[in-house]
Amino acid sequence: MPSTVILGTGSYAPDRVLTNDELSHMVDTSDAWIRTRSGIRERRIAAPGESTSDMGVRAAQRALDDAGLTAADIDLLVVATITPDMPMPAAACLIQHKLGLPTTCACFDLNAACSGFVYALDTACAMIGSGRYKKALVIGVEKLSAIIDWQDRTTCVLFGDGAGAAVVGMSPAPNLGLIGTRLGSFGDGAELLCIPRGGSSAPSTPESIAARDHCIRMKGKEVFKLAVRAMDEAARDILEQHGVRADQISLVIPHQANLRIIEAISQYLELPMERFFVNVDRYGNTSAASIPIALDEARRAGRIKPGDLTLLVAFGAGLTYGSALLRW
Ligand code: COA
Repeated sequence: MPSTVILGTGSYAPDRVLTNDELSHMVDTSDAWIRTRSGIRERRIAAPGESTSDMGVRAAQRALDDAGLTAADIDLLVVATITPDMPMPAAACLIQHKLGLPTTCACFDLNAACSGFVYALDTACAMIGSGRYKKALVIGVEKLSAIIDWQDRTTCVLFGDGAGAAVVGMSPAPNLGLIGTRLGSFGDGAELLCIPRGGSSAPSTPESIAARDHCIRMKGKEVFKLAVRAMDEAARDILEQHGVRADQISLVIPHQANLRIIEAISQYLELPMERFFVNVDRYGNTSAASIPIALDEARRAGRIKPGDLTLLVAFGAGLTYGSALLRW
């Protein structure tokens, strides 16, 4: 059977670096606290006027170049994001226009928060695998700096901006590319990580804006425990489903939320940290952009070779989770 494969990857991070020391002048925190609790040293922040769609375009162009394709080749665009340029229309449509994708290209956004790229990759591969689409662009992109409460030290130190992208197409070779996925969600935990106001159930009011209720709110401790459990289970499930032992995975690309979460998964899976790609120290949590940025950096650093098995594993607001097994 032919396979749905990743033909190219690209990523983009804004130039502006926001360090922990700078944050310690904005809220009551310290470089030592942030580093020991999260592993984050710095994060990137979009330039004034730089939008989610601008960043998505930069990552997508690099992925197209890497795949040796042009905008004209793409007939499907899936954008994973919780920070579209505006509530309507989809960021995908803005990216389509800026990138010059054909008007016959299907374009839509997908919201699965930090699991968004794994969901979007599965969606694109299923649509490509159906034969109705030929080449897809899958983008994970966030401008979280726009929805952070910069006065809330429990969240503002954790997040950053950026974009990652992959081009998906068919290969005649069997058993390559996306081997399988395991997606799910714990909707009963939705309130643990959410933006309480500004949606249709509770539109913003002057009072709610003054209280910054249109920004991310998170119960960090609860989310931490659920993230470790769900990512460990999603990883184990997909390995079991496909008869793969953890030690056969050459590289795990986990969602980059917190180094301690990644270390816990490394212990539970009994896989050394050398088999985990980590860049949370440089970017913080970029939600849907985190896995595709890491995937692109891992490929460009030569950490993924032909024949390798790679495991993606994610967790995010929803509370969504997802794992994906890839052979290169
Ligand atoms: N600087 C200094 N102190 C801070 C702080 C900061 N930026 N943020 C919180 N604190 C304080 C708290 O107020 C608390 O003080 P108290 O004991 O006087 O009440 C103390 O540090 C411990 O806070 P706590 O929330 O228990 O810390 P923690 O060890 O759970 O770490 C997180 C906090 C947010 C780093 C951690 O819970 C986490 O990473 N959660 C998951 C986040 C995540 O990955 N979310 C996205 C999933 S996709």
